[in-house]
Amino acid sequence: MAFKFNFTSEDLDLEDTEENQQLESSLNELTIDETNDIDKIPSREYDILSSPLPSVIQADILQVPNVEKALYKRTLADVKFQMAEQDTLIEEHADKDVIPMLNLSGNTDLIKGVYEGGFKTWECSIDMVQYLSELPEEQITNKKILELGCGSSLPSLYLLSRSNTNKVDVQDYNDQVIRYITIPNILLNTVLTVQEPSSSIVEEEEEEIEEESSEEEDDEDDEDDEDEKRIEEDVNTCDAEAEIPTEKIPTMLQLVSERTRAFVGDWSTLPEQLNVDQEKYDMIVTSETIYAEHALPDLISVFQKALKKPDGVCYVAAKTVYFGVGGGILPFCNLLVKTKDKSGDQMKFEKVFESESTVKREILKVSWDL
Ligand SMILES: C[S@@+](CC[C@H](N)C(=O)[O-])C[C@H]1O[C@@H](n2cnc3c(N)ncnc32)[C@H](O)[C@@H]1O
Repeated sequence: MAFKFNFTSEDLDLEDTEENQQLESSLNELTIDETNDIDKIPSREYDILSSPLPSVIQADILQVPNVEKALYKRTLADVKFQMAEQDTLIEEHADKDVIPMLNLSGNTDLIKGVYEGGFKTWECSIDMVQYLSELPEEQITNKKILELGCGSSLPSLYLLSRSNTNKVDVQDYNDQVIRYITIPNILLNTVLTVQEPSSSIVEEEEEEIEEESSEEEDDEDDEDDEDEKRIEEDVNTCDAEAEIPTEKIPTMLQLVSERTRAFVGDWSTLPEQLNVDQEKYDMIVTSETIYAEHALPDLISVFQKALKKPDGVCYVAAKTVYFGVGGGILPFCNLLVKTKDKSGDQMKFEKVFESESTVKREILKVSWDL
């Protein structure tokens, strides 16, 4: 299954199962359903040791440019398959919301306070992996890291697989995302043995991608072309799978929990769950989480309460502007530099990456300004 990180609204109108998988790609123009006036989900720690797992996980292989190690990412079709298998068991359970989240149509990416987009993989997370891979060894090994709004958690997967000395905690608004995407992805990239397809299949996939890419070059009027081409040229994907023998599940989850804690719920109540009074984080990473202006104060508050002084560093990957929803780099930076913590300290930012594409993407390095 070819995996694309960007697509046109036309793609989203397609209804069959295969095209539905493309919902995991990111949109240029974000739409949020704000009609719900729903209480924020309170933060809590997610119990990794009790996470339900299927006997086999189907994955895409992501080869991020200039990054030596491929990343494995669970397919959404595989999540749907697990849901179908569990169908009779989950009617009364929160997992009944998983299929509606997976099936969100192109009209809405997120439902404010209900579902914040974690099942899709957003393209700035690829930028983040590329950027992290270029940092000097000592800056990304032996670190205590937190990924905020992780979703499929590509940066965490990279950091966990890059060095066994890293400990990486993850947080997503929705526990369904942690359970069915984040934890399986961490397993795929750390403890599981993933069976890769033979090289001939990989070559076929690459040929298909090249054909699609050259067809699109003809359509110069489509302003999404530049981004789509970048992704299709840069990220070659194909299928893989990993078996999970039932008797090994407790040991595997134990191994995950030795390096990772997981948190679900809203940022406003996250700091008290993190035990940051005992130990703060060396690094916080977050991708495509500054799209909604109303959530920026809570996000910045987590940075300030959870990041080590004086040397901790946050990396924020985001589109420069999220058309139609008010968030983006400028409102984030404006608020960051005028927000003080309870000791009166502030943070500063520096742009460390900017894309060449039509829809601009950036990475900010945020650190203490002491
Ligand atoms: C657009 S998704 C990005 C997912 C992932 N980082 C990526 O780049 O693929 C935004 C993520 O931010 C998180 N998020 C958004 N608003 C939040 C809030 N108020 N509290 C906690 N998490 C939030 C959600 O968990 C969601 O997964």
